Amino acid sequence: MSELTGQPVNRTDGRLKVTGAATYAAEFKPQNMAHAVTVQSTVSRGHVSKIDTKAAEKAPGVILVITSKNALMLHQPDGNGDGRLGEKDLLPLQSDRIHYDGQHIAVVVAETFEQAEYAASLIKVDYDLSRPEIDIERSIAHLYEPKQSMGRELQIHRGDINKGLAEAGVKISETYSTPVYHHNPMEPHATIAEWNGDELTVYDATQGVMGTRGNIAQLLGISPEKVKVISLFLGGGFGCKGFMWGHTVLAPMAAKMIGRPVKIVLSRQQMFTCNGHRSRTIQKIALGATKDGKLTAVQHNTIGETSFVDEFVETAGIATQLLYSTPNLEVTHKLVRLNKGTPTPTRAPGEAPGTYALEAAMDELAYKLNIDPVQLRLINYAEVNEQNHKPWSSKNLRECYQRGAELIGWNDRRAEPGTQRQGKYLVGYGMATCTYPANRSPASARVKMMADGRVLAYSATQDIGTGTYTIMTQTVADALGIPLSKITFRLGDSTLPKAPNSGGSQSAASVGPAVRAAALGVRSKAIKLATSDKISPLYGYSEEDIYVDNGLLIVKPDPVRAESYLHLMKRHKLDFIEDEVTTQVSTRETKGGGDDKKKAENEASKADEAIDRKQYHFQSFGAVFVRVLVDPAIGKAHVDKCAAVIDAGRIMNMKTAKNQIMGGMIFALGMALMEETAYDPNNARVVTRDLAQYLVPVNADMPQFEVQFIDKPDPYISPIGARGIGEIGITGTTAAIVNAIYNATGRRVRDLPVTPDKLI
Ligand code: MOS
Repeated sequence: MSELTGQPVNRTDGRLKVTGAATYAAEFKPQNMAHAVTVQSTVSRGHVSKIDTKAAEKAPGVILVITSKNALMLHQPDGNGDGRLGEKDLLPLQSDRIHYDGQHIAVVVAETFEQAEYAASLIKVDYDLSRPEIDIERSIAHLYEPKQSMGRELQIHRGDINKGLAEAGVKISETYSTPVYHHNPMEPHATIAEWNGDELTVYDATQGVMGTRGNIAQLLGISPEKVKVISLFLGGGFGCKGFMWGHTVLAPMAAKMIGRPVKIVLSRQQMFTCNGHRSRTIQKIALGATKDGKLTAVQHNTIGETSFVDEFVETAGIATQLLYSTPNLEVTHKLVRLNKGTPTPTRAPGEAPGTYALEAAMDELAYKLNIDPVQLRLINYAEVNEQNHKPWSSKNLRECYQRGAELIGWNDRRAEPGTQRQGKYLVGYGMATCTYPANRSPASARVKMMADGRVLAYSATQDIGTGTYTIMTQTVADALGIPLSKITFRLGDSTLPKAPNSGGSQSAASVGPAVRAAALGVRSKAIKLATSDKISPLYGYSEEDIYVDNGLLIVKPDPVRAESYLHLMKRHKLDFIEDEVTTQVSTRETKGGGDDKKKAENEASKADEAIDRKQYHFQSFGAVFVRVLVDPAIGKAHVDKCAAVIDAGRIMNMKTAKNQIMGGMIFALGMALMEETAYDPNNARVVTRDLAQYLVPVNADMPQFEVQFIDKPDPYISPIGARGIGEIGITGTTAAIVNAIYNATGRRVRDLPVTPDKLI
């Protein structure tokens, strides 16, 4: 049996998904379940002065109407739990105050969804209005400097930025802006809550079952042991299911009040208000360089937005501190508070809009210097992280540039804009660097080999559509030498061994090593049993002499000597062999996701933890090249080809990995050309509330994709060598598209999206 890790194995949950047998959060059917609909504010600032629920209460099928008058009191989480609330200062239905359009102000619970929705329409709300503010520019007097973002510095300086800019032979200084984006996963948010005495089960569309468990327990003032959170499948999260939002606690609150299970599903319209978004950004970038292209100064000043009820920073400048070599650097982040819901991580938070601005600016600099954009990046290649002086754990970005250029046919590009045609279209080529941090957090896993030959593996991680089920199954198969078909990987259940939130592209790198170590622990136990058993053909050999394949333990120097796990377990009358592991490794300074009391004496895990990581910086890189066709008559840009070469360490599954990068590039295509949440300046409400008005790329928009990987294991991230790949495809790609549009047309659009009105 050859090694499965890396192979383009089909999704182990693929059949369940295409047959509809995969159960998503909204599809569980506890007995006697009631349906709840939330009523949202239709103003953006003020108070609810009167809420008339009489007609709703009398409507057919209505069981209960909850407002701030009769809602159960919630407790303020202490911030030390496993998860984070989207809005810590806006616990739902606890006050009359309105901070944004779409804030939950009532919940109607009825026998059916239709009855709940009808009754909700009968609720009359009067407001005391204040003047809302939804515009960064108009609030600019209230700009402030946030202190940090999830433990990271936001104001970063090295050298002397003014000196660096003054010394530069060539300079550019431009402002780039990105609008508000909404995640829009195909599956909306959904929560079902079911109480059994004082025990609560919550089926939730979440990227983090442990975090949701912790938040719910703290909000309700109960012990986390009493709360079980289930999230078996996710129809995309993209960040909006990473932190927990109000509706997720309203379901258990309502269920408790009526003594029945309750389901809440947010509508597509509601998904545009109360579950986070990507902040609008205004990014000023100044670059200084010598005439031969060496950067002397990099300045990246970002203004973003947050709400009045929490702080979230779109960390657009974070990657700028390390992407290129420069002696002088300034990165700043400032915020204003607006009457919108609180922003939240969105599809490569920070890096997506940040690399758009920086990589577009690098293209502008390349033109001004008359240096090829690839060459400019090679001249300024960062051999180490110049901010913290640490070497990279591994970096093969030069090879990414070279291979990417070949894939797109970069040599066919003409530097002078507007000079290349194909029929009625203007043709343009653009490129950019991709980068995303290689996050790893503490994680636990348990592997249990059963006497009947099945292997069960468990971890309270999530598969948010990325392929976690599949790559973890491959990992177990390789460690044990057991065919994939014998292995069941269970996740998405908070009663399983603790794992981190599936955000920040960290699940493969965090959970993979724990799963591998637990499986190797089982294998080691089996081998020890056999080699110390006089009846076994393996008797007397050392552990290193044994390898595993297709359910057999085999003696390397003498392969006719072998026995199966099954025989061994039967002879020893074992029902199972099991091991559980917690790895404590973290590549960043955040709170752990591991379960301390479960720390096992596991050799593989000890070897993993013994790697000295402090001296390295863990970061993934890549290069993306695109070709666009622009129809000058109607100003429409079409991405014709998109080629990426990504360096993310070892690739665990070539098929799901390519999927991930393509998905990221499609997000970037949306950012570049179509996505934008619009607000009405008159009433401060969200205008684009469905997918007819908020455009996302569809099949007809797809380019030809070429995705390749360097696929060299990162020697320091883990014994597997894999870094995350969930988000890096989004980074850089937006800039590559915009740069290609400039190459095609000579139009430099700096405020996204590049819609036809800006090109015509
Ligand atoms: Mo991802 S936006 O870090 O969930």
